[in-house]
Amino acid sequence: MSLFRTKAINTDLMSGSGLKRVLGAFDLTLLGIGAIIGAGIFVLTGIAAAVQSGPALVLSFIIAGIACACAALSYAELAASVGGAGSAYGYSYAGLGELPAWIIGWMLILEYTVSVSAVSVGWSGYVNNALQAIGYGLPDFLMHGPFDKLHPGGLINLPAALIIVTLGTLLVIGAKVSARFNSIMVVIKLIAIAIFIGVASFHVDPANWHPFIPPMTTDADGVNHFGYQGVMAGAAMIFFAYIGFDAVSTAAEETRNPQRDLPIGIIGSLLICTILYIVVSALLTGIVHYDKLNVPSPVAFAMLQIHQNWAAGIISIGAIAGLTTVMLVLYYALTRVFFAIARDGLLPQFFSKVNAGSGSPVRCIVLTGIVIFFLAGFVPLGNLVEVTNIGTLGAFCVVCAGVVMLRRTRPELPRPFKTPFSPLIPVLGIGFSLWLMTYLQKETWEAFAIWLTAGLLIYFGYSRSHSELAQPAQE
Ligand code: ALA
Repeated sequence: MSLFRTKAINTDLMSGSGLKRVLGAFDLTLLGIGAIIGAGIFVLTGIAAAVQSGPALVLSFIIAGIACACAALSYAELAASVGGAGSAYGYSYAGLGELPAWIIGWMLILEYTVSVSAVSVGWSGYVNNALQAIGYGLPDFLMHGPFDKLHPGGLINLPAALIIVTLGTLLVIGAKVSARFNSIMVVIKLIAIAIFIGVASFHVDPANWHPFIPPMTTDADGVNHFGYQGVMAGAAMIFFAYIGFDAVSTAAEETRNPQRDLPIGIIGSLLICTILYIVVSALLTGIVHYDKLNVPSPVAFAMLQIHQNWAAGIISIGAIAGLTTVMLVLYYALTRVFFAIARDGLLPQFFSKVNAGSGSPVRCIVLTGIVIFFLAGFVPLGNLVEVTNIGTLGAFCVVCAGVVMLRRTRPELPRPFKTPFSPLIPVLGIGFSLWLMTYLQKETWEAFAIWLTAGLLIYFGYSRSHSELAQPAQE
């Protein structure tokens, strides 16, 4: 029983899996934008500008964007040639073998579970602010879970838990309905961003961009800020803002023409968001001095600073819509990856059943939903952004490596989309991802190590012997 046994590639990407093929290129691009624009731009930009990058936040966005562009081109090639709902997990299973595939699948589960939970807590804060504005703010004990040391006396983060139930219900109803809901919310958040860009353009004070990279300082904990190191640490954090384009690839089995539409959806959504991020971060630090930006809702705050209260209101609505779509699409991606792993027997196959009526994997949606519900409702998730990043960056490395590997081992495979300048682009993708990973904190690496250890225990205790490839007929 080799740890590196590989799964045959099903070159008929249109063969049935039970999931319904209802999505086109436009749906996928909106799905990508839905997953990408959220807490990264509406929440994290403030802290990144105020304590890590200063006005050079725009450089942090460009650096993280380059890493993502290399990974996106690699994802596009594999999504169009190998395909499958399992995304990076499936590509590794075909190219690298079962154990590496399991590790990637396990990292993707971490990425999506933690990001949905973390974003739900940010969403909850925004919604409560809106409720407070109309006089219906929730009491503190319904805004924090019992383990939140900063807010003793908490019972549950009720809005966060409720939004997970709502999104889970939408996903059970089916991919097409979820995609339609996603489209409406994406339009709302894009309008909010367009308003920010329009208004902010007239209020830039170039003095705010000086010094562009503030000098390095070291805080009481010995952590460095600003300077070149700060810009890199900012990039490693702000990378979170780009997470989500990879989720598009998990829609492979629900896409009508995956070979054409997946590359469009992945690269198109990333390109649009990268341009918006660069413009927004430059304007944000141009209208407000970076040292004032360490607030939970920096984009709306900046509008208040220039006395555009109406714009701040619309941006808050856009942020709520934005965070909603991020959760919806990443939750969707989580269920599809989980589904693909269960179908291969590495997790209980009970979860690989698709509901006949809606064509959605209801059991996966319910199980993963319960886990996210508890994380969102009861666990304080403030620092988990970096854990999401490390899992995603790890998956990016493997996807880029997969492109190079499969070009050697399976040169004959049809490749409707080819990563340009391979192996240069995939190697750059690996280099940039590893480089960003080195800027993540020690605690993040520790959490990652614990997660991977748990994954290995499950693999050797369960998955290895239950794998479809371990069954006699398949050996
Ligand atoms: N990119 C997503 C966000 O920023 C995860 O919320």
